[in-house]
This record gives sequence, structure tokens and C-alpha cells, in this order.
Amino acid sequence: MQTIIGKEERLNYAAELIRSGEVVAFPTETVYGLGADALNGNAVRKIFEAKGRPADNPLIVHISAPGQVNSVAQNVSELAFKLFQKFSPGPLTLVLKKAPAVPLITTGGLGTVGVRIPRHPLALKLIEACGRPIAAPSANRSGRVSPTEAAHVLEDMDGKIPLILDGGKTEVGIESTVLDLTKEIPVILRPGAITAKMLSEILPKVIDHKGEVIIAEAPGMKYRHYSPTKPCIAALDPESAAGKYDEVLSGGIIPVIIGREDFVLAGKRENHISLGKTVEECMSSLFSALRSAEKKYGYIILQYFPNRSIFARQQNQKGRGGGDIRAYFTIIAKSCIISL
Ligand code: TXA
Ligand code: MG
Repeated sequence: MQTIIGKEERLNYAAELIRSGEVVAFPTETVYGLGADALNGNAVRKIFEAKGRPADNPLIVHISAPGQVNSVAQNVSELAFKLFQKFSPGPLTLVLKKAPAVPLITTGGLGTVGVRIPRHPLALKLIEACGRPIAAPSANRSGRVSPTEAAHVLEDMDGKIPLILDGGKTEVGIESTVLDLTKEIPVILRPGAITAKMLSEILPKVIDHKGEVIIAEAPGMKYRHYSPTKPCIAALDPESAAGKYDEVLSGGIIPVIIGREDFVLAGKRENHISLGKTVEECMSSLFSALRSAEKKYGYIILQYFPNRSIFARQQNQKGRGGGDIRAYFTIIAKSCIISL
């Protein structure tokens, strides 16, 4: 199969492909998704095949407005609608009781379904144009770093899908927060740009993700995730990053240090990639930095923080408020997944 990359002018073709049971990659504000008709089991099977994804890992179902949620979920609470109103379109996925119309292959065999309204205009237009809810995981091969550009999708999906809709670089850069609303107290199953602190404006109580990814209940989190094709370790501070760098280099392998600007500059080593100064910059450039690093270097050393108290200290030293700490934690939780 030949894979073509097209911009918005291919939107109607993309919608036609989805309606006829094919798979199309499309941009969202978080990462690119690999989409198919969520209600068509044969179409969804093609997503699992193209990704090489384990069958017990459920897909997120994308809709374009809160009014469509009842077509994919049932017993949807007032709270869910309030959350959609406040945070959608945007990087928040709600886990709800599945409607019978959604085939079990879409939900990895679960009686629940993850639902999200993405913010990228092309994603919203695609859902509208095909008139179907779209099931879509990130458009990487299973186990690879999530794609934040159409070119990343092509690297992983060339020859496997007919079309990649190109909507430029994604804005947020890490995947949506997954919030399970089927529990008595809502639980963050996967951290993302919508933080526990932000959710607590609406939720009386929320259980935060603790970074213990191995026992996390989002089935996808138990798999080795976001892993670059080169060895990757996490370093606690610039000195240990530099120490590891020198050790790797003396063994004849070219390493690179990746982290926030202050971290990589303090490491004082030639090969480094700065993710930027702010939390937003770091989130948005993390995956593309990993993709370029794995092509160019033999060993990746990534900035890592072991727990929140350390972020708190770091943030306080810089005289910033605590507001950024949780958001920064989401990057670190991702990093910890990389280092597993
Ligand atoms: O930002 C995103 O969420 C992107 C874009 C494309 O929307 N999608 C994405 O999908 O990251 P994926 O398949 O790579 O990750 C979905 C995560 C997995 O960890 C999966 O296990 C979890 O969400 N998930 C989906 N449905 C679930 C459910 N019913 N119960 C628990 N976890 C669920
Ligand atoms: Mg993924």
C-alpha cells in the first residue's frame, strides 16, 4: 500500500476512507492519532495490526462535541459533562461506561471506554466530516515514541496506511490526561497537560497518578512505552548526566544529554538537546527531541526527577509559585516510563 501525506484539501478523502473502514493518521493537539471508525470492529482491527499493538490495550474514542458522548458511553454523569465543558476540546480523556454500540475490540475487552474531544481543527473537522466517532491511539508503532509531526508518522507507518493528514507540529506534545470516572473517586490513570490541580476545580476529590506506571490501571501503561530505539537512561542531576556521558563516550559510543535548558547547560557537554525553558516548551519538544536523538546518537541521557519534593525545591529556589510543579511532574512521569 502506498502511503500519502496530504493537507486539509484531503479532508474529504480522509473522511471517505474512515467511513469505508480504512485507517487514517490525523493530527490532534497532543500527538498524531491513527484513526478508524470506532463502531466498526473490522476497521479497528486494522489499527491494532498497523501498530502491532497488544489486543488488551484499549483505544481512545474521539468525538467532536459533548452531545455525541451518549453514542459511545452510557450513564454519563453530570460531572462528566462539566469536565467536558471546562476542558474540552482539549487534552483530557474521560473513562466512562461503554455503550453497547462500541465493539469490545475498541476497548481492549473492557466494559469502559475512553472518550476525548481533541482541539486540533483538522481532527474536529475530520470527525464532523465522517460522521463517526474515531478510535485512535497515538500513530506510532507500538513501543515507539509518539509522533508529533506527520514525518514521524511516516517513519512508523509507511506502506501500512493509505493517508496521513498533515496538520503541522502538534501543540501540546504529550498525550492526553486519562481520568477514570467509573471509580467512586476519579483517578488519573495517565498524567498529561491537564493536571490534578486543574481538575480539582471541578472534582471534589481526585486521585493523582503516582508515577508507579507498572501498576497503573490504564492497560497501556504496563507496556514499555515511549522507548527510543537507542539505550536511554535518566539522570538525576547535571553532574551524573555528565559522568555517564563521559563513560559512554570512552566506550566509543556517542551520547547526548536531553533536558530543560538549565540542566543541559550545567552538564557542559558538547552533544545536548535543550527542551526549552518552560514546562510547555519541554512538553512540546520532548518526543521530537527523542526521535532526532535516536537517529543521530548512540545513547540518550535524559533529565529525571525522582519525586515531587525535588520539583518543589527546584521551583522554590527559582522563586516561582507551585502552580507549575504538577505540570512538570507529568513530563517526569513520562520520562520515567522511558527509563523503564
Ligand atoms: O492524546 C492522546 O490521548 C492521543 C491522541 C491521539 O488522542 N492518544 C493516545 O492513545 O495517546 P494511546 O492509545 O496511545 O493511549 C491511550 C491510553 C492507554 O494507556 C490506554 O490503556 C488508556 O489510554 N485507555 C484507553 N481506554 C481506556 C479505558 N477504557 N480504561 C482505562 N484506560 C484506557
Ligand atoms: Mg501511545
